[in-house]
This record gives sequence, structure tokens and C-alpha cells, in this order.
Amino acid sequence: MLLGVNIDHIATLRNARGGVEPSPVLAAEICEQNGATSITTHLREDRRHIKDEDVRTLIKTIKTKLNLEMAVTEEMQKIALEIMPASVCLVPEKRQEVTTEGGLDVAGQLEKITKFVKPLKEAGIEVSLFIDPTEDQVTASAKTGAQFIELHTGCYSNSFGTDKEEIEFKKLYEAAKLAQSLGLKVNAGHGLNYENVSRMHEINGLYELNIGHSIVSKAVFTGLAKAVEEMKDLIK
Ligand code: PXP
Repeated sequence: MLLGVNIDHIATLRNARGGVEPSPVLAAEICEQNGATSITTHLREDRRHIKDEDVRTLIKTIKTKLNLEMAVTEEMQKIALEIMPASVCLVPEKRQEVTTEGGLDVAGQLEKITKFVKPLKEAGIEVSLFIDPTEDQVTASAKTGAQFIELHTGCYSNSFGTDKEEIEFKKLYEAAKLAQSLGLKVNAGHGLNYENVSRMHEINGLYELNIGHSIVSKAVFTGLAKAVEEMKDLIK
């Protein structure tokens, strides 16, 4: 299984001061040096974390693959076709949400999504659809021409360790199986952390996991001791 790291939160922190650090470019480099097989950034409509400038720089500096998460809008399609990331992951987007809350309703917008996928695919960009693990969304996704789906693991992650875990896990398991039988490659992500990630091994053939929040959160604490120590050295 491959690991894609979502670096949006690095940009969130940078934007808190409006300056240049921490740098998403440096973050991407460190992730790659330590085994990330792709770097994901979500260019949101409100640009609350990653900015256009970041994507334009990252496409030049990333040595693995840039996976651009984006909404199904004309503006984003134009940017993707101009920047040419290795892949795009189409997500639903609501301005008010803190993070991507649900999967894309592919079944309810089959014609629109199919039309949207075509030029991206023709340009050589791999297309993935971020969907809930349900039969109708998987079946619809297979009709769009997209090569990948990314299963939304949020419900599984939230239910981990509770009596709902098994039900939520089974949905992912069955959805992945169905998708693969329809010729789709299957990624997964959202809410995965250092505890709940291990069960992803039980799902056959998962291609890549996309993880952001738990990795950046962990990095704060694995790095804090050294950061304080270095500053202490400078001022003693
Ligand atoms: N995959 C998609 C499509 C997402 O929208 C996100 C969140 O930005 C992730 C994966 C990563 O989720 P998390 O930050 O919870 O690991």
C-alpha cells in the first residue's frame, strides 16, 4: 500500500501568520524523503490553506506525484489542465465545512461528472472520485471513465473502537471489492490515524492511503522537543 501525504495543514499554519513558514514545499520534500509516494493538496474555492501559488511551485518541486484535490467546478478544471498534476481527486466542497464531510454524489450527477472527467483524462491526468463506500456510488463511479476511487474512511475512523466499527469497516471492504471487480483502482482516506490505519491491510488491493491530519498532528509532538532545545541553545 502506498502513502500519499496531505500537506494542507502546513499551509493552514503558515497562513495563520501570513508569512512564509512553515513552507509547504519543504514539507512536501520531507514527506517524500521519508517514503511518501505522493503529495496531496486541496485547492479550495476559498483558498483557506493551499494557494494557487503553492500549487504552481509544488508542481515544479515535487519529485513523486502531485495529487490535486478539487471541487467539480470550471475554475478548478481550468487550473488542473494548466498545471497538469499527475492526478486529481474530485471532492464535494461546501464553504462552511471544516473539512470534506461526505463523499461526492457521483450517482446523482453522473452526466455532469462524466463530462468533467473526460478532458482531464484525455490530457493524461489520472482521475479519482472521493466517494462514500456505497454500492450506488461505486457503480456510478465506474461509468464515469475515472480510473480511481478514493473511499471516504471518515465513518470508519469515527467509529473505530465502538460497536459501529465492524459495520463501517464492512462497507469499505465491500465497496473496495465491488470497485475492483468493475476495473477501478481503489484509494482510501480521511480520518485515518496511527491506530485505525492497521485495518486497511484487511482490504485486498488498496492502492494508496491519503493521510493528512494525523501525520501533521504527530509531527508537532515528534518535533517539539528539538525545536525548544534549539531555541534554548540560541538564547542561553
Ligand atoms: N482524502 C480526501 C479526499 C480528503 O479531503 C482529505 C482531507 O483533506 C484526506 C484524504 C485526508 O484526511 P485527513 O486529513 O483526515 O487525514
